Amino acid sequence: MNNASDPDIAKELLTVIDSLAVTIAQDKEAKRSLSYLTASEPGVKRKNAVKPKDASPALSLEDIRRDMENCQRCPLHEGRKNVVFGSGNPQASLVFIGEAPGADEDQQGLPFVGRAGQLLTKIIEAMGFKREDVYIANILKCRPPNNRNPRPAEIQVCEPFLVQQLKAISPKIICALGTFAAQTLLKREVPITVLRGKFYDYHDIALMPTYHPAYLLRNPSAKRQVWEDVQQIMTRLQTRSGENEAD
Ligand code: URA
Repeated sequence: MNNASDPDIAKELLTVIDSLAVTIAQDKEAKRSLSYLTASEPGVKRKNAVKPKDASPALSLEDIRRDMENCQRCPLHEGRKNVVFGSGNPQASLVFIGEAPGADEDQQGLPFVGRAGQLLTKIIEAMGFKREDVYIANILKCRPPNNRNPRPAEIQVCEPFLVQQLKAISPKIICALGTFAAQTLLKREVPITVLRGKFYDYHDIALMPTYHPAYLLRNPSAKRQVWEDVQQIMTRLQTRSGENEAD
């Protein structure tokens, strides 16, 4: 039941408050604007607090990794074996973003290395790239117990690290894999069936949502649509010389 006395909700609220405190402290330290703390007039649209293309200098991926290697900002750290930070080319033009690590990823500390990951690798190779050419990361860096869905409080704590990663990489295109990645990045609660197949603007980066490879394992007939989506990505990445640029 959704009730404010529910201990899970109380715990989530505390996590949100903790994460806000961490964000404020980080922004103060980096001398970033705290304008998101100022109430806006009703009807005035607020800008996101953290943007990959804001004026503050981009941290390097290694700085960001160091900042979160012992992360205890949400309860997921209690059950994890490894933080799954992300892997690939730090200057990739194309970044794939999934939901959260599963058991294999947690074990190895690398994103998309299980069955869904093997299918993602095939998709990447069918696009004419190698895994090392692109960058792969997730919305959450720690595995949710029993692969349950990410909770809003966990996304709230972890997403700023992804935003920093995107700012460091500055890719040309993001491919959001599945409902959670697409809805989290686009801040829209629209089904992936509706979102997929079109480019959106994500802080000046083109973002293409498509189905998650785990969904394709259960619904192989959707591979055709994913192929159409990644072909649109390939067309956008095409250089004038007619070659794909993944880095
Ligand atoms: N599913 C995801 O969303 N991410 C992974 O890293 C693995 C499976």
